[in-house]
Amino acid sequence: MTALEQAAEREQRLLMRTYARQPLTVESGRGVWVRDASGQELIDLVGGLAVNVLGHAHPAVHRALAEQSQRLVHTSNLYYTSEQLDLAELLIGTAFPSRVFLCNSGAEANETAIKIARKWGRVHKQGATSIVCADNAFHGRTTGALAATGTERYREPFEPLARGFIRVPFNDLDAIASAVDGATCAVMLEPIQGESGVHPLDRGFLGALRHLCDEREVLLILDEVQTGMGRTGAWWAHQHDGVAPDVMTIAKGLAGGVPIGAVLAAPRADVLEPGDHGSTFGGGPLASAVASAVIRTIEEEHLVERAAAAGDHIAESVQDMASQGAPVDEVRGRGLMLGIGLRLPVAREVAAAALEHGVIVNAVGDRTVRLLPPLIITHDEVDEAMRRLGNAFASVAS
Ligand SMILES: Cc1ncc(COP(=O)(O)O)c(C=O)c1O
Repeated sequence: MTALEQAAEREQRLLMRTYARQPLTVESGRGVWVRDASGQELIDLVGGLAVNVLGHAHPAVHRALAEQSQRLVHTSNLYYTSEQLDLAELLIGTAFPSRVFLCNSGAEANETAIKIARKWGRVHKQGATSIVCADNAFHGRTTGALAATGTERYREPFEPLARGFIRVPFNDLDAIASAVDGATCAVMLEPIQGESGVHPLDRGFLGALRHLCDEREVLLILDEVQTGMGRTGAWWAHQHDGVAPDVMTIAKGLAGGVPIGAVLAAPRADVLEPGDHGSTFGGGPLASAVASAVIRTIEEEHLVERAAAAGDHIAESVQDMASQGAPVDEVRGRGLMLGIGLRLPVAREVAAAALEHGVIVNAVGDRTVRLLPPLIITHDEVDEAMRRLGNAFASVAS
């Protein structure tokens, strides 16, 4: 039995069947490279689904983990720790004037944002509770976040879910304007929808939405769980539009692979009081210290700017593949959050062929190949990854 067959057999016996895994057993990683159980070296353009912003085994992550775990791993939120406070200060410095709540995942961050919106509606808008969100949105798998999620297939088996979520088409300001009424406390969106296949909000949309939210007195919640941490070529995707949300949720790359989530609330939305919310592990010293190290490293290594440049380089290379016959329709997204839209429903075949050719990409549905590489990817690594992806396209087309 190969290592892959053994892993598949053990999974069958041991794990709930929640994941459809790719035929790959990852043994180790360094930078943008991972090694599988057979010793093959692959370039990882998925980066743990937008988590490994510093790639694999980055010395800054290793050092923070080692140093912090020697001093203090956990204390609970009954006490102060400097690690949590340092992280909050760094985060606010990258974003907008706000206060921070730290948690453990994207779904948990969105649950927190939903509670903030509902409490805000109770305090400031005569008990308004409804939240306008988008078709095809993805906000997480917990029951509140799932209620805000657009994909019927994810929600339906678990109903009844929380009430009060109104869905409108993505990128449709008129639909939001029609849906917002006296009972609405918030509009909740991703600046670029990731799980639906990398679909960005139109340029200028967020500015107009910010105006609408102010005029109609509702909170603007942005889910930057996937778009954040510099990935799109700005610390936070909304910064491209020069506007700020009232509430922003973060997770994924925040601690470079150590589980963490966060919510930032502007003064207007800062309504939670003692007893309203909490988390045993949230903002623990270990995850907080690593997250601070990740933020400092992104700044020191200019990774926000590098993400923008590497993303342009990838997009141009994919366009070249298209002109040489790859079945590529368009490249969507920004920076290092890219969706290659295909002319044919072969995304899964391309992802499987890519593995054979030593590059990891992610198929979303039949027609999108998603790329979420580590922000540290170099020019030469992009060239090598694109050469491999080009070969994968060629093998599927032939
Ligand atoms: C935009 C967005 N929000 C929320 C989540 C959920 O995050 P988590 O899996 O950490 O709960 C995801 C995960 O893919 C996401 O992409």
